[in-house]
Amino acid sequence: MDAQRVLVTGGAGFIGCHLVRVLLEDESVDSVIVYDALTYAGDLANLSEVKDHPKFKFIQGDIRDIAQVEENLSSQQCNRVYHLAAESHVDRSITGPAEFIETNVLGTFNLLETCRKLWADIDGRFLHVSTDEVYGALGETGCFDEKTPYDPRSPYSASKASSDHLARSYFHTFQFPVLVTHCSNNFGPYQHPEKLIPKTISRIMAGETIPVYGDGSNVRDWIYMEDHVEALILVMDQGKLGETYDIGGGNEEANLNLVNCICDEIDRLSDKEVGHSRELIEFVTDRLGHDFRYAIDSQKISKELGWAPQSTFESALNNTIQWYLNNQDWVKEIEAKG
Ligand SMILES: NC(=O)c1ccc[n+]([C@@H]2O[C@H](COP(=O)([O-])OP(=O)(O)OC[C@H]3O[C@@H](n4cnc5c(N)ncnc54)[C@H](O)[C@@H]3O)[C@@H](O)[C@H]2O)c1
Repeated sequence: MDAQRVLVTGGAGFIGCHLVRVLLEDESVDSVIVYDALTYAGDLANLSEVKDHPKFKFIQGDIRDIAQVEENLSSQQCNRVYHLAAESHVDRSITGPAEFIETNVLGTFNLLETCRKLWADIDGRFLHVSTDEVYGALGETGCFDEKTPYDPRSPYSASKASSDHLARSYFHTFQFPVLVTHCSNNFGPYQHPEKLIPKTISRIMAGETIPVYGDGSNVRDWIYMEDHVEALILVMDQGKLGETYDIGGGNEEANLNLVNCICDEIDRLSDKEVGHSRELIEFVTDRLGHDFRYAIDSQKISKELGWAPQSTFESALNNTIQWYLNNQDWVKEIEAKG
């Protein structure tokens, strides 16, 4: 395999920072360049452990600006792009959808178009990282797989769906070397405190109410970010160009059950009577267009590339809770950015 000169867009965000750490340990990787605008969701603190690594470089740049993308990428000679930069929070896409279109759709176009031009003589691979939310919502049964028709139902998922179509169109029209993944809900350290698991932990720590949408029955399929990162690297290295791979954790939980588990674990860790923190739960008006259930059938990546999640849900969740309890300064710093 060629030496990899890797670009990770969105590498200062939650999943990106974990991906960067793993890539830097990979002997087939020569360099890892993070390209990130450092929006409210990205922070160099997420990369503090690797900032002095000899193979690491950071470029602050905005994928919405094609001139900036061209200027920054033309001298880097990257031959692998993991594209993760995105506006990623569904609630924000409801209150302010414009940025989702600009970053997720236009930004993806800018990267595809720039790499297409730069890769005339480079044997590159471009992995577009997407979400299961593009498939819409499931009822009580069934799973999404790679053949499920698209049915995005929030401005976030619609913008990701749109970028997926663009990415695939570049493969079919220009034979541009694209791979696409759809993953379920990730959790783990360094996830922005606006997301369900870190938010629940922070609220419990502060003794504040824990908002749960509707009656808490919405179901998500949770995956520990380490398992997602491993799948992304496998798809980049061994996936068939033009193909799509769905990645799921196989851990379906109703939101209320998940919040209850977090409450009980924190009670145990802080020597409180189990049940104490559950009293903080407050049911709030449901999210507009809230999808009922997501679940992923990961058979394709499992059969073709030999991937399977290695984490067990309970221990990964407990590790995550412990990390947040130990890193409240990080949480406060990120929250202070707004
Ligand atoms: N978190 C999940 O559960 C999940 C699940 C499936 C897929 N995904 C996808 O994975 C990717 C990463 O998700 P995440 O949870 O790490 O997101 P995140 O919000 O934590 O990080 C996004 C990163 O992108 C950067 N960014 C945003 N706009 C930018 C712009 N215009 N130019 C350059 N950088 C910009 C931010 O600064 C941040 O560092 C996203 O594409 C998301 O759609 C996430």
